[in-house]
Amino acid sequence: MENFVFQNPTKIIFGKGMIARIAKEIPEGKKVMVTFGGGSVKKNGVYEQVRQALEGRDFIEFWGIESNPAIETLRKAIQLGKEHRVDFLLAVGGGSVLDGTKLISAGLLYEGDAWELVLKGEMTRTIPMGAVLTLPATGSEMNRGAVISRKETAEKYPFYSNYPVFSVLDPAVTATLPPYQVACGIADTFIHVMEQYMTIPGQSRLMDRWAEGIIHTLVEIAPKIVEKQDNYDLMADFMLSATMGLNGFIALGVRQDWATHMIGHELTALHGLTHGATLTIVLPGLWRTLKSKKQAKLLQYGERIWGITEGSEEERVNSAIEKTEAFFRSLGLPTRLGDVQIGDDTILEIERRFNERKVGFGEDGDVTGVLAREILEHCK
Ligand code: NZQ
Ligand code: ZN
Repeated sequence: MENFVFQNPTKIIFGKGMIARIAKEIPEGKKVMVTFGGGSVKKNGVYEQVRQALEGRDFIEFWGIESNPAIETLRKAIQLGKEHRVDFLLAVGGGSVLDGTKLISAGLLYEGDAWELVLKGEMTRTIPMGAVLTLPATGSEMNRGAVISRKETAEKYPFYSNYPVFSVLDPAVTATLPPYQVACGIADTFIHVMEQYMTIPGQSRLMDRWAEGIIHTLVEIAPKIVEKQDNYDLMADFMLSATMGLNGFIALGVRQDWATHMIGHELTALHGLTHGATLTIVLPGLWRTLKSKKQAKLLQYGERIWGITEGSEEERVNSAIEKTEAFFRSLGLPTRLGDVQIGDDTILEIERRFNERKVGFGEDGDVTGVLAREILEHCK
């Protein structure tokens, strides 16, 4: 196990009706800006609950943070927030609203263009934010990451900012989610775990078991959720799995991969694909490409999650990859570039971009442009 320092300061407020508590969590006297997406919160009662909870408090609203939040939109929010001297933010929505609000929280204290902050990758000066999460997937409610897009250049980059001070997670509000978003959220959670788990064997028994615990839970509940989405207890387990999958708890002292995500971000930037659906395409292809390097961990995963114990090591590895791809397909998600009509020009463009940026991802930093192309060839 490697050395680590760990602190996660986010207060999680979980359960039915808990949105009512947000006023208690926001210090008196704050000028609050509440940020929203495109309007789903008006259809499922979340907006009304937030308004009631903030009764008598000084707040303004900013609407229109889109999926894969764009710098072009967030600049407007930062300007509005500066005009009103906002000193507390409340993000109400999915990961995109939360991520966008993380940039706003740094942008409000920054004189230059907020895109410079994204490119810098790390923000130190931020104003506090809370969150009401409506879509389990990203873990943004309890981590300091965010991913911002720039439409005019078709770019999408992650950066690190502040943790939310608090996040309200009420599984009841997920009942109105479109089934495709639920499927993408399950896949995103699954692959967050894999980015932290499917690396080097024997680093930490405890991290392995925690990660496998989340995967077991997802594999058990996913078919039931696909069949019947409005079951509170199932959605509660899903929501907590998503949070636990990317709040740092399963990453203590272990190396991480993240190459699937970085290639996936390019597919979204270039083609607008939903985040979770990019990952279900890239992950199986990445495993097919790197299966000898990841063999020991793939065998462990195959045995512990899917009960694969028969056959040669190569057969068991192949079977673990096939089971995973079948799981994604059972969610109704694409697993091949051909499923979404993406061809060779995109593969070459991603190779070119990685080379130009001189980047290397993965637990060994070896997923450069050349290897990204090979991985994408295996996604066909
Ligand atoms: O905009 P509204 O109208 O609210 O509709 C949203 C949006 O259309 C809708 N929705 C959300 N909650 C709903 C609902 N519809 C009905 N009922 C509800 N309860 O769902 C749509 C998708 O929302 P979005 O926030 O875009 O989805 P998600 O939470 O999956 O976030 C995706 C973004 O997060 C980034 C992704 O790259 C992507 O940009 N990620 C952030 C991470 C992080 N901060 O740590 C890590 C992830 O790997 C990921 O990269
Ligand atoms: Zn993700």
